[in-house]
Amino acid sequence: MTDLATGHRGLMMEEPTLFEQDSPGQCGVDLPEPRPGGDRLGGLGSSNAIGLPGLSEPEIVRHYTRLSQKNFGIDSGFYPLGSCTMKHNPRLNEAMARLPGFADLHPLQPVSTVQGALELIDTLAMWIKQLTGMPALAMSLAAGAHGELCGMMTIRAALQARGDARKRVLVPDSAHGTNPATAATCGYDVQSIPHNKRGRVDIGALRAALDDGVAAFMLTNPNTCGLFEDEIITQAEAVHEAGAFFYCDGANFNAIVGRVRPGDLGIDCMHLNLHKTFSTPHGGGGPGSGPVALSEALAPFAPLPAVIAGDGGFKLVEDTHDASDTASTIGRMKGFHGQFATFVRALTYMLSHGGDGLRQVSSDAVLNANYLLARLGDVLNAPFEGPCMHEALFDDRSLHGTGVTTLDLAKALVDEGYHPATIYFPLVVQGAMLMEPTETESKATLDHFIGVVRGLARRAKSGDEAYFHEAPRLTPRRRLDETAAARHPVLRWRPDVAQGEAAE
Ligand SMILES: Cc1ncc(COP(=O)(O)O)c(C=O)c1O
Repeated sequence: MTDLATGHRGLMMEEPTLFEQDSPGQCGVDLPEPRPGGDRLGGLGSSNAIGLPGLSEPEIVRHYTRLSQKNFGIDSGFYPLGSCTMKHNPRLNEAMARLPGFADLHPLQPVSTVQGALELIDTLAMWIKQLTGMPALAMSLAAGAHGELCGMMTIRAALQARGDARKRVLVPDSAHGTNPATAATCGYDVQSIPHNKRGRVDIGALRAALDDGVAAFMLTNPNTCGLFEDEIITQAEAVHEAGAFFYCDGANFNAIVGRVRPGDLGIDCMHLNLHKTFSTPHGGGGPGSGPVALSEALAPFAPLPAVIAGDGGFKLVEDTHDASDTASTIGRMKGFHGQFATFVRALTYMLSHGGDGLRQVSSDAVLNANYLLARLGDVLNAPFEGPCMHEALFDDRSLHGTGVTTLDLAKALVDEGYHPATIYFPLVVQGAMLMEPTETESKATLDHFIGVVRGLARRAKSGDEAYFHEAPRLTPRRRLDETAAARHPVLRWRPDVAQGEAAE
């Protein structure tokens, strides 16, 4: 590849930043002269150049088009990223979210003109209540972690209301990192609860940790090892006996939707990630949506705004003075009403599948993950016995002695056109590889992926260590120095720093 004059690879272009493509004096737009209006900035106006690069419109269009072609997403290929659930976003959802009646709404419109939108939020809440078996719902939260924060603030408010100053939150060692972070953000001391040989919470350790200082137990179910916590009812009884609340991280609800209602298991509070279970776009940090389902005991503390159905239509309660039953609320946690277009997509998914279709979704997600577990179990090592739920977990024991690591294997998969699995998570498993195929992948896709992973595992065992250390070979950039990138991040382009040179 080094003999190429351009640095391009066929039609995949090497892409300099816009600043590096700067041709001073070029401008992609014709802006009218500003109208003479006098000094409206109180003397703070500036006429200095602001350092924007000069480019024509076609140059800008090509730049962004080429960048978009470098992106790998669920629409480009198989994306078995465990824990993150990269699942297909049906185009029907998109079409519904773009209907002018939804897309052109403004959040400050008078409530009388948005009755349909409020009905949609109420209907979606009704579906989630039905699926979770929990009586109340907070809809506005912007992500799973935001939902967790809301849930823990609700629990804290409920404890404060009963004059019970509890200081500790128990979190299994296999938990998603957002769980202990949320508990600590809410001012609690976090106590880790170990897992047992079966990859589930050690019930003895949980019992030993529970006392009248524990505010809540935060469990992810199915847990981050892709396993169902089969002692959850016993856990719930022990937590409630100690007077604590049972928080469930419901991010993995896609494995049990339509089959298990968390409310029936004794859960007091659970957030859901709409992008994981109900196929809304992942959003790369937003626009996510993390509604929170609440038990009867926590419902009075739910955040505002609340959509309330009445005889005269739907009311939007934004202020504690507007309704007596919202007087104990923890207050507003998000501007306006949440990610409305995401609600439209999630409800479209629910209505187009129906209850039986959603049950089929979780069955197929679990079946696909178990297919990977069964077909890869002899070349990669599964740390825990038995079937899994929606994601298959492997450790790096089968690579020991080969000189090849989990990271090397992941990089080699990129050369084969696959987004790698999640690696080194969950933390409780050495060299973890967590694969989540989701329900929409065909057997042909899974078989092809399995063939590639088996081939790579054979290659690693045959002693071809160098091949893996060189990977990825075919990507626009080779392996980065991840330590330098983390310790000395270059977060903005600066004219005085040469390209490729680490700054700061
Ligand atoms: C188990 C679990 N909990 C919490 C979260 C946090 O969700 P979010 O990224 O939407 O904040 C995730 C994210 O994937 C998760 O997998």
